[in-house]
Amino acid sequence: MHSGSILIIFTLSAILYWIAAATLNYVRYEKTRAEFGCPPLKAYPGWDKILGLDYVYAMLKALKEDRFLQFQTDTYSARGSKVWRANFLGNRMVYSSEPENMKALSTSQKDAFAVEPIRVANGAITPFTGRGVSSSDGEKWQHSRDLVKPYFERAGFANLNRLREHVDRLMSQIPSDSSTVDMQPLFQRWFLDTSTDFLFGETVNSLDHPERGWPQKDMVKVMAGLRLRLQLSSFLFLHRDKEWFAACKRIQGFLSHYIEQAYRQLEEEKKGIPATYKNGEPRDDFLWTVARHVPDPIELRTQLTGVWIPSNETTSILMSNTIYALARNPRVVQKLREAVLEYGDKPLTFEGLRSINYLRWTVNESHRLYPVSLQTVRACIKDTTLPTGGGEDGKAPIFCAKGDIVHCNRYLMHRDPELWGSDTEQFLPERWEKARPMWSFVPFGGGPRICPAHVMVDTECSYAIFRLLQRFKAIEPRDDEPYAAVMRVGPSSKYGCKVAFIPA
Ligand code: HEM
Ligand SMILES: *[C@@H]1O[C@H](CO)[C@@H](O)[C@H](O)[C@H]1NC(C)=O
Ligand SMILES: *[C@@H]1O[C@H](CO)[C@@H](O)[C@H](O)[C@H]1NC(C)=O
Repeated sequence: MHSGSILIIFTLSAILYWIAAATLNYVRYEKTRAEFGCPPLKAYPGWDKILGLDYVYAMLKALKEDRFLQFQTDTYSARGSKVWRANFLGNRMVYSSEPENMKALSTSQKDAFAVEPIRVANGAITPFTGRGVSSSDGEKWQHSRDLVKPYFERAGFANLNRLREHVDRLMSQIPSDSSTVDMQPLFQRWFLDTSTDFLFGETVNSLDHPERGWPQKDMVKVMAGLRLRLQLSSFLFLHRDKEWFAACKRIQGFLSHYIEQAYRQLEEEKKGIPATYKNGEPRDDFLWTVARHVPDPIELRTQLTGVWIPSNETTSILMSNTIYALARNPRVVQKLREAVLEYGDKPLTFEGLRSINYLRWTVNESHRLYPVSLQTVRACIKDTTLPTGGGEDGKAPIFCAKGDIVHCNRYLMHRDPELWGSDTEQFLPERWEKARPMWSFVPFGGGPRICPAHVMVDTECSYAIFRLLQRFKAIEPRDDEPYAAVMRVGPSSKYGCKVAFIPA
């Protein structure tokens, strides 16, 4: 036979196969849904029922034009429902902005949902890292979570001394003549310094030496590749960027340096030489606490990256968004500053920071309006239901089939006027005097997989704001652009955070 006709026959069979598989899947889905007694979900009205390419295109376009948040708001409101579904490259996506579904997915129904199928099983992250705490389920996850827990339980409380050095360096970069400064890159460098110090036991000190010793370019490459690969999902084979694999190798080499050093110091400890930092204080960073229990260097690297990846660009975005909001709310800055001055020169402790209510309200309000993590995403691993969002009134339980990917959207929940009232778009720390939102406010997720760093993050953020307002009496916006969010880990300001700090 002519090779051209073979190709045509092959292509046609492939298409027929796709259609048959999609139809079978649909029939099975409808049958099981009926058995579970759940009404159908509202659906994205795409013309491409097989791959959902029109939906994929609309989403990519919104991302490219930095309209992703608006896209979320619009797609939900166009369905007229807080829960709906769409086809994305042949996968059924379920979208929810109902607190009750977030709660069930994170607690009572958690065993029907998993992260491995979307993060590891298809090989998306494996060339760089393995099954660490943020990318595994079941026993493997429990083991990793137990390993990292002791560090995070202490870090939120104990590290104020080490934090001080980094905040000192941050402050030294802020002009004291009220001239304009973009805080976004400064917070990024500050957070890189803080997190390398806390995770590896050695800061890269990028605030003083922006280019030194840090494989910046490789990191950008690795993170971008990881994001792309997670999006590609079942089309992972399309990603063949040799440079990405090479960058992964180089970062792994960079980490090996810290790992070998930790093992060396553990050996010395056995001979009675305790491991200390340059200033003589005993080592207590993440790598050090975990290395003791993980003799295998590859496994140790996996545990290290399993915490390092979800930490990337988080606290820095939170800080940047908070200062952005403060610069536009002088009244809040005044009240914060009064609270800071009232605290006075007492030593700044964890309990001390926690005692300043207005500061805690401000941090919560920033998490609410600008959640750094937009949604909790899980793969459904067995047919199940979630409590609400189906039927005409949107109150009936919904069906989730094995293989569905469920997205619980924080951004929309945090701004839902039905949950927060008509002033929901305003930056208003005072609302926290009364607000007790439970599952409609989950910046760190909830249940057993809640972000283990949440106390540490809030401490770092409160500490930095406290120090800034001790020294400056006002923050002025120096930028006329309206807020536009570009998607990194979560929404972050497209035009940075250009402000001026007015010395007291
Ligand atoms: C503004 C800062 C941060 C926010 C808003 C945030 C938020 C979150 C959220 C929403 C989750 C998922 C929870 C879930 O799946 O239910 C998570 C998981 C995680 N976060 Fe964070 N995070 C932040 C900073 C950090 C930092 C600085 C670290 C590490 C030093 C970190 C380490 C982790 C880890 C290891 C997990 C996985 C936990 C697990 O699956 O058991 N996060 N975070
Ligand atoms: C986060 O990743 C970016 C690359 O996307 C890198 O430039 C930055 O230094 C990383 N930050 C931290 C704190 O690891
Ligand atoms: C801030 O939010 C957390 C939930 O993340 C809540 O437990 C806490 O009570 C809130 N803080 C204040 C001061 O309202």
